[in-house]
Amino acid sequence: MMLPFRRRLVSQARQYSVHSSVVSKSLLDLKEKYRCGEPLTMCTAYDYITANWVQNSGIDMMLLGDSLSMTTLGYDSTSYLTMDEFKYHIKSACRAEGPSFVVSDMPFGSFEASVPQGITNAIELMRASSKVKSIKIESGPHSSDDYTYKLIKELCARGIPVMGHIGLTPQRQHSLGGFKVQANKNVDDIHDLVESAKKLQQIGCWSIVLECVPQRVAGYITEKLSIPTIGIGAGNQTSGQVLVISDLLGMQDQKPPKFVKSYDNFGQRAIEHLQNYASEVSSRDFPETSKHTFKIKEDLWTQFLEEAQHKKY
Ligand code: KIV
Repeated sequence: MMLPFRRRLVSQARQYSVHSSVVSKSLLDLKEKYRCGEPLTMCTAYDYITANWVQNSGIDMMLLGDSLSMTTLGYDSTSYLTMDEFKYHIKSACRAEGPSFVVSDMPFGSFEASVPQGITNAIELMRASSKVKSIKIESGPHSSDDYTYKLIKELCARGIPVMGHIGLTPQRQHSLGGFKVQANKNVDDIHDLVESAKKLQQIGCWSIVLECVPQRVAGYITEKLSIPTIGIGAGNQTSGQVLVISDLLGMQDQKPPKFVKSYDNFGQRAIEHLQNYASEVSSRDFPETSKHTFKIKEDLWTQFLEEAQHKKY
């Protein structure tokens, strides 16, 4: 069941006719919520079923994250996800209707070769579904990543909304030395992170994901910016929060990172349900005649049996 919108969407004020009856949130709606000081909510989705859950929950933003590659496709890093695999999943997730504003990651390898490559692939992702309204790009240290800034600036200039992503950037895990908390070892790293955030705002990002940084650092950056920060492992002083859906629901068997709150134990419960099903099939308790089976009229069955006697079945 779709939850009612808490207030009229800014985006509903004026729009062209659309195929879908469901109006999703726009950047203006998100900016308005941010301006009112209300925390923004975001969660990943990877396919039609998870996207339906997110859309029906009333969560503000749905992230088509490249975490797809590890959570759903079984790769051991985000580096292997191809544009084709990603687009297939974007199309699936975007078949779910709902109010969430949809953001797509730029996967590893889709933008590093050149600015034109990045622009072409950003357009491809925006075109994978009309529901995709922004892309998200991971960037590196302020002191050395002029390249990604240049690309982001070009994308923003072309009217493609960009969400930045700094701190722990999984696509750069090898240069970071693994999945580690960032900007917690020395002052220079904190300065660099603050500079990165300021730079991303200056070149046109409409929001920035801050991943795995100390709460105080994230709070400081949030205060210095006039665009929303979306935290993951960054404490409760950011403008919003994002979580990976499989962590949030406890869909996997490995322990999630410290910053995750798992609201359920879906994975374990799924296995228990499957075991119960298998055991009921083995004991012939499922399907139950009175509940799960179709009947046939008595006279039709009698007629069939009579006729069957004369056939060589
Ligand atoms: O891919 C992803 O799920 C992400 C979130 C962790 C922010 O980038």
